[in-house]
Amino acid sequence: MNIAQITDLHVVARDRLCYGIFPTNVHLAQTVAHINSLDPRPDAVIASGDLTDHGSSEEYQVLRELLAELIPPVFLVPGNHDRREILLEEFAGADYLPARDAPFVHYAIERFPLRLIGLDTTVPEHHHGRMCEQRLRWLDDRLSERPDSPTLIFMHHPPFRTGIQWMDAAGLHGGRLMEEVVRRHRQVVRVACGHIHRPMYVAWGGTIASTSPSTCHQVQLNLTGRNGFEFAMEPRAVQLHVWDNSYGLISHLSYVPAGYEEIAVLNNLTADAREKFLAQNRHDYQEFCRIEYDKRIGTLGLKSSLYRQ
Ligand SMILES: [Fe+2]
Ligand SMILES: [Fe+2]
Repeated sequence: MNIAQITDLHVVARDRLCYGIFPTNVHLAQTVAHINSLDPRPDAVIASGDLTDHGSSEEYQVLRELLAELIPPVFLVPGNHDRREILLEEFAGADYLPARDAPFVHYAIERFPLRLIGLDTTVPEHHHGRMCEQRLRWLDDRLSERPDSPTLIFMHHPPFRTGIQWMDAAGLHGGRLMEEVVRRHRQVVRVACGHIHRPMYVAWGGTIASTSPSTCHQVQLNLTGRNGFEFAMEPRAVQLHVWDNSYGLISHLSYVPAGYEEIAVLNNLTADAREKFLAQNRHDYQEFCRIEYDKRIGTLGLKSSLYRQ
């Protein structure tokens, strides 16, 4: 079976840009179209948190509208930008999600050859995550139920140190304790995370833990420990986890093709402008892209109703 992982969608309200720069709703629409066009088409999509940017009802309504276009079924867990009670309210019809007043958005999906466990690592009003005693016990119990079923766990905060210091400051508390739990259950073939907006892989807990690129913007690879929040205008991607009983789990990055609006931005640059462009720092580039998006998006036949400026 094939599982597409999307993460850090940061969906915003209809008349907004994420951080005043990124048309993340358009980016998600492009990602959905990309997944639907894959051959073979994924059997399932897992979305590992930061589904919305502020966790508002309107943002979840836009998210629902965008995800309704996905052909495979999608399974959601929250991230630090989400609000679990609003998520559960707006997606109340989803049969795999717990009741609205559930303390956490945890569940196990049993219908595929690879068992999927969604874990809620969020702490309301905080950017860091936590695997508390209650969550560790829940995970241990679920894994003990089916020791012979190969299992993929997905969650927002990675349980390992990434080396990108300002992201680690908003990392997972209790990661070491979770590692002890996972190490006891040999059927776990992957712990697939989001939050970092970059791909990463590490041997962890007797298995492999990974993070995935974002569908909206990436985070600068900065291992100096000196910088704070930095965007990187790197390609957006979906992670494609391919499960085969004989070969195990193989993970690919499937890049989301730049939309017509991005191609238009680059193609319309004269040679002089391109040179100037390259000489500018990336924040100017982001501002340039924002202005160009503003000018062009409504005329290019994309989901302009989801992006009104
Ligand atoms: Fe994020
Ligand atoms: Fe996050």
